[in-house]
Amino acid sequence: MTTAIIGTGGLGSVIARRLASGGETLRLSSADHESARTLAAGIGRGAVVAAGNRDALQGAGAVVLALRFTVLKGVIDEIAGPLTGRVVVVPSNPVSADAQGNVSRVLPEGQSSGKVVAGWLPAGARLAMAFGSLSADLFESASNRSPEPAVLFYVTDDDRAGEEVERLIRTAGFEPVKAGGIEQSGRLEVGGDLHDLVVGPAEARSLIGAA
Ligand SMILES: NC(=O)c1ccc[n+]([C@@H]2O[C@H](COP(=O)([O-])OP(=O)(O)OC[C@H]3O[C@@H](n4cnc5c(N)ncnc54)[C@H](OP(=O)(O)O)[C@@H]3O)[C@@H](O)[C@H]2O)c1
Repeated sequence: MTTAIIGTGGLGSVIARRLASGGETLRLSSADHESARTLAAGIGRGAVVAAGNRDALQGAGAVVLALRFTVLKGVIDEIAGPLTGRVVVVPSNPVSADAQGNVSRVLPEGQSSGKVVAGWLPAGARLAMAFGSLSADLFESASNRSPEPAVLFYVTDDDRAGEEVERLIRTAGFEPVKAGGIEQSGRLEVGGDLHDLVVGPAEARSLIGAA
């Protein structure tokens, strides 16, 4: 199966490597063409560099938008047409960092990032918020854990997106656990109770139930 990854920075590159090692074919695109090229070269035959963000979607069943929240809307607008009917996976946390690295929230407290992103997407796009609940380092170290796999939480309102994101999460070496609908996305992001948690399936399900 083929997945597009737009954004090959800190998180996008880790997602790409984990998916490729699970057998996924990738089409990569980034503002920095060189970073996409270097990543693709490191992965080998399973990854190609697309000519641009729209081209990355050619032949891809799903797209992962591994972009900072502040550039997300611009890229969605750029590729909006081909997103209709497609599974769109968004790991973005609603934060920005200043030059000193101080992180601040870019949405009002309590506003669900998933609902905001859903409002930016064209009708018919199938959104899942996923792959952003662990830091890139934890993501890398926790994948393919044994004997008990680590969980990656996701949220969606769309059954087809749920099936596809579960497949991608397993391909990346995790066990998927749904934390609810899109309105629950705050639980997965920085400051949420499920963020940066490396837990197995039983503990994950009890945490979901406890909320
Ligand atoms: N890093 C983590 O540990 C982590 C963990 C959980 C969630 N997240 C979330 O994941 C998202 C990405 O984080 P990150 O750390 O990977 O950020 P990052 O290192 O800054 O990477 C973002 C990537 O997006 C590219 N980009 C920017 N504008 C673009 C455009 N118009 N078209 C295509 N690509 C574009 C950047 O290219 P340039 O470098 O050329 O600008 C860069 O490759 C953020 O929303 C963050 O909240 C990150």
